[in-house]
Parts: sequence; structure tokens; C-alpha cells
Amino acid sequence: MMDRIYRHQRHIYDITRKYYLLGRDDLIAALDPPIGGSVLEIGCGTGRNLIRTARLYPSARLFGLDVSAEMLATGRAHVARAGLVGRINLARGDATAFDAAALFGEAGFDRIFVSYSLSMIPDWRKALAAGLDCLAPSGRLAVVDFGQQEELPAWFRHALFAWLERFHVTPRAELSRAIATLALERGFVWRVRPLYRGYAWYGTVEARRSPGGSIA
Ligand SMILES: C[S@@+](CC[C@H](N)C(=O)[O-])C[C@H]1O[C@@H](n2cnc3c(N)ncnc32)[C@H](O)[C@@H]1O
Repeated sequence: MMDRIYRHQRHIYDITRKYYLLGRDDLIAALDPPIGGSVLEIGCGTGRNLIRTARLYPSARLFGLDVSAEMLATGRAHVARAGLVGRINLARGDATAFDAAALFGEAGFDRIFVSYSLSMIPDWRKALAAGLDCLAPSGRLAVVDFGQQEELPAWFRHALFAWLERFHVTPRAELSRAIATLALERGFVWRVRPLYRGYAWYGTVEARRSPGGSIA
């Protein structure tokens, strides 16, 4: 299904999504991986975020997973054009069931991020859990995705949701709760906050033990 959606979209994806996939660059700016650390993007699409991450963190080792061969073809072309072939390793796989060691030769990642992909993955909780289970000790997972537009006008919410439905995108009303639940199940530290008056959620989970977390 993702290949069908993106067969043509992938050619205009980066230019069109720039205006409404908000919060991606702030997520990347906050990643701050350790020197020589590993960073995985789940649902990496055209590679736009990984290329930006590679430029911002020159020693980081980058990995991208996506289920769509069409998106990965564009991603590989963009990575080559950016001169980053040796630094960004892309692989095809399903976010809900992937073997990081087999695909990338890495057992755990220092940073993992999921940007506007959980809203397209039917079993998004499973994808989130799979990401958390791939964190290296002291690693951190970050998520940015559509919110419920709580503080924005109702007409905006209706228009946005109708538009997103055309692309099989479903903002997850339970996203912040799921981040908290999955983190707590593992005893990890979590934090979730809304961006742009509820337009998006930004959440992080750190693989270190703590008594709790917070929803801002
Ligand atoms: C809206 S795009 C986001 C791309 C990129 N993360 C960004 O921020 O621009 C969603 C991506 O998730 C991928 N995707 C959807 N379902 C997936 C799954 N089950 N496993 C891995 N990737 C998936 C799609 O192929 C697509 O590339």
C-alpha cells in the first residue's frame, strides 16, 4: 500500500511536506547523539531527515528503515546526491517486525526517531514498542507526529484530518498515552509535549530507569 501511495508522491514529497510536517528539524536538533553514535530513523521515507542529521552530527552513523521500496529508491538517490553513501545505510523492513542486527549489523541504537510515520502504520503501538526495544543502554527515542489540534479552530482540524485521510494518515489520539505506557512498562524515562497548539506531539523516551515521566 505504501508503494502505491508514494509511487508518484515521492517525487514531490520533500517540497510539499516541508510546510506541514512541523517539528522535524527541532527533533533533529535535539538528537545530540554521542560521538560516533548510531542513529536509526524508522519510516525514513526520502531520507530527508537522515541527510540533515548526517550534516548536523558529522561523526554519527546513520540508519534508515522503510517498508516502501519506492520511497527507499528516492532515499538512496538523495543520499547519493548528498555524497553520504558511506554514512547512511537504508534498508527495507516493516517497523512492526524488523531485525536490526540482520538488516544493519547493529543490536541497539543510541538514538532512534520516528517522524510522522506512526500516523501511517496501522499497528503503530507495535512499531513504537519495537523501536524502544532497539535502544542501546542509555539510548533515546524521539517521536514527532500529528496531534489532535485541540487548541486550533474546529474548521482547521476538520480540513486537516480530511486532507490527511486522502494519504491514509490517521493522527493517533492515543499517542501521548501510548508513549507513557510503553515507557513505564520498561521502566524508562519519558516526556511528551504538544507543539504548535496541539498541531503535533513531540515525545522522548530514554532507556534509563526512573520513577516516572510527564505530559506537559
Ligand atoms: C509521512 S512519511 C514520513 C517520512 C519521513 N519520516 C519524514 O519525516 O519526512 C511516512 C513513511 O513511513 C513509511 N511507513 C509506513 N508504514 C511503514 C511500516 N509498517 N514500516 C516502515 N515504514 C513504514 C512510509 O513508507 C513513509 O515513507
